[in-house]
Amino acid sequence: MSLVNMKELLAKSDATFAVGAFNVSDMEMAMGAIKAAEEMEAPLILQIAEGRLRYSPLELLGPIMIAAARQCKMPTAVHLDHGRTLETVRLALTLGFTSVMFDGSHFPLEENIAKTKEVVALAEKFGASVEGEIGSIGGAEGDMASADIQVTSVSEAKRFAAETKVDALAVAIGTAHGNYKETPHLRIDRLQEIHEALDTPLVLHGGTGLTATDFHNCLVNGITKINIATASYDRSAAKIKEVHQAKPEANYFDFSEAISVGTYENVKKHMEIFGLKGKAGLYN
Ligand code: 13P
Repeated sequence: MSLVNMKELLAKSDATFAVGAFNVSDMEMAMGAIKAAEEMEAPLILQIAEGRLRYSPLELLGPIMIAAARQCKMPTAVHLDHGRTLETVRLALTLGFTSVMFDGSHFPLEENIAKTKEVVALAEKFGASVEGEIGSIGGAEGDMASADIQVTSVSEAKRFAAETKVDALAVAIGTAHGNYKETPHLRIDRLQEIHEALDTPLVLHGGTGLTATDFHNCLVNGITKINIATASYDRSAAKIKEVHQAKPEANYFDFSEAISVGTYENVKKHMEIFGLKGKAGLYN
């Protein structure tokens, strides 16, 4: 089935499922995510955040992600998560990413709109989708500066979507990147208001640590894409430790496989919760 545009994946989401977007940092994680998608017969978004490029340069990992998506039997989009600069966005598009996020949420609204519009114009030339962000999701993805949660305003979201014409919009409704120190209070009321006011597919960041009920409440109220990063990194790291404990003589390849298996387990678990089993059939 292979590499597809993210916009097409989100268009079929109908309040019974949301497409999982899973961050990967190497070939092993990408392989684990693809194995889960194929077993679940689910659509998939593979993504990497600009804040992680220090460990996984886009010029090296990008082509691996594209090749993995092409090889995957399920419809798979390849997405730049939290792009901060036009240069990185351009590089991702040149490498063949079918979607890019421009995160201008730390800029004043006018500036966020202006910069996001530039990204939309650029992505159009490559036939790629664009995700924008309005409001501020808490925590930090990789090396980016940590932010406080600023719940998205309905009027700002409406204006941002109308002026930028993004294909997907990340909203801040009380979630944060990374592991939660306290139970998050999700503003489902605000999500409902934004969903009623906008036609744009909505994106939930900070998925790690939310409950199945939280995810369900989000996907029935307009969330079409759910981002999961930390849970995969943690599961893969835990798997390496498990392998080491069970087999002290474990070699490099045992650990390499553990990374893949850890991500596979986490992606599969989340795909089940997001209602994705068998949903690849919708894209035939
Ligand atoms: P988590 O690390 O909390 O799963 O967040 C992922 C995310 O939103 C990536 O943009």
